[in-house]
Amino acid sequence: MKILAIETSCDETGASVVEDGRTILSNVVASSASMHQKYGGIVPEVAARMQTESMIPVLTEAMEGFTEDDIDAIAVTVGPGLIGSLLVGVETAKTLAFAWNKPIIPVNHVLAHMYAVFLEDSQMKYSSSENNKIVFPAIALVVSGGHTELYLMNDEKSLKWIGGTLDDAAGECFDKCARLLELPYPGGPEIARMADLYSSYTSNLPAGKQESSRLSFSNNIILPRPMIHDGSLNFSFSGLKTAVLREVNKSKSSQALNDQTISKFSHEIQESITDVLVTKTLNAVIAHNAYSVIISGGVAANQRLTHKIKSHISNLKSKINLLVPPPSHCVDSASFIAAYAYHHQTPANWRKITATPDLSVEV
Ligand code: KG4
Ligand code: ZN
Repeated sequence: MKILAIETSCDETGASVVEDGRTILSNVVASSASMHQKYGGIVPEVAARMQTESMIPVLTEAMEGFTEDDIDAIAVTVGPGLIGSLLVGVETAKTLAFAWNKPIIPVNHVLAHMYAVFLEDSQMKYSSSENNKIVFPAIALVVSGGHTELYLMNDEKSLKWIGGTLDDAAGECFDKCARLLELPYPGGPEIARMADLYSSYTSNLPAGKQESSRLSFSNNIILPRPMIHDGSLNFSFSGLKTAVLREVNKSKSSQALNDQTISKFSHEIQESITDVLVTKTLNAVIAHNAYSVIISGGVAANQRLTHKIKSHISNLKSKINLLVPPPSHCVDSASFIAAYAYHHQTPANWRKITATPDLSVEV
């Protein structure tokens, strides 16, 4: 079964043809991220305008080598997301469904992120299970710019929301903290890069001095790990951003931000966010006797997060499989929208499909 999927929930315009929810036959993504850099975040009107211009070229490229007769269904992100952006994809998909007389499957973007692990086009990073086969029950963490959610998956189709952020998402926290450190947007990869620099500063010191230097280097900035031991599966990251603001202002009052200070902050921000994500995910694994962990969404591209979770689950008594999509499938694209649609084939009448910016993710 070949599904043509369209994704325009945020600043990307994506179209992809995927066979049986696994094999990517084409995948095209146009991003307007560089246009938002000067504003330090996404400007919805700019994103929607770019998507209006990119939609047809992206669609045309994704359909190269295929005709409408090859396509069995059309999938489209209906929410959550930015209204102007969603409308571009939704109206395009409805037009195609009507013109080609194909079923149309509305997709929840956040739930679809998890289905990136079903795609087989490139080798799954950290998959410790054979053929990327997921042993259920699984705990799935979706960490993106807009969401931080935990789900219990009892099989490919059944999803149950078990916790999420009460305020800012983890990616949003990375982005906002990066802005405080005067790093460009998107901030997650920038913080990760500067945190690596911190490691290189300390590892260049003579062996005997590395550990003590690391301690004194990081000791001046200690950030909170919000809600880490509260016993719930919920998150809160807005206080962390406020704590970073306070520390950055304190630091700026004695000297201007330099690479060394920014790297020190980046290291501690990354440690704080990943400590919370790892602890909550492991608590969910234990509470639900899970056999697999799925990490997806843009923040899943963070190497420190995946290494930390890998080392923690290897310390657990029972064997837990970890599945993390390659970075290209962690960030937004239409391929995982098609994968979700394949596993949840619930077509709707095209007349009834509407863009829903605040679509609930608590299923
Ligand atoms: O899933 P995604 O592409 O878009 C949304 O659906 O939100 O996620 C984008 C988010 C941004 O906040 C970005 O800073 C973050 O993912 N991100 C990262 C990394 N790469 C992307 N955060 C931390 N480390 C990374 N390497
Ligand atoms: Zn996303």
